[in-house]
Amino acid sequence: MKYVIGNDHGGIDLVDAVEEKLKELGHQVEKVGTFSKESVDYPDFAKKACQKVIDKEADFAILLCGTGVGMSLSANKIKGIRAACVSETYSAKMSRAHNNANCLCMGARVIGSEVCKDIVEVFASTKFEGGRHEKRVNKIMDIEEM
Ligand code: RB5
Repeated sequence: MKYVIGNDHGGIDLVDAVEEKLKELGHQVEKVGTFSKESVDYPDFAKKACQKVIDKEADFAILLCGTGVGMSLSANKIKGIRAACVSETYSAKMSRAHNNANCLCMGARVIGSEVCKDIVEVFASTKFEGGRHEKRVNKIMDIEEM
């Protein structure tokens, strides 16, 4: 699978951990920045990364900011993106299994790199269950048409 990583200055400390784990799992990784600790605006990087998913240049986006919240709020405004802000592995698993999330958001001021790697591993290895969840996910997508 191909993953795109987007982050602001607040999320930069988790970028290496995410990249390392994804590569260890055999995935392709593209990073779209930011690449320094200079203050930037997280919506710009949410857009940049999620556009790759929308354009099918990536299968999943992983977005990192201070809390994961700003990134998830931004990403969920983009048609076709289902972003989950996660800080533990159970939610990471269910975000794939039940919600078919295509974007994982985490906060570098909330979790450390080892928890982050566990979350990435669970997210990357869990498949959408479909079935009764399909209808619900379709209802989420219908909200985009409101
Ligand atoms: C940047 O200071 C911080 O607000 C941002 O990284 C993120 O936590 C927003 O949700």
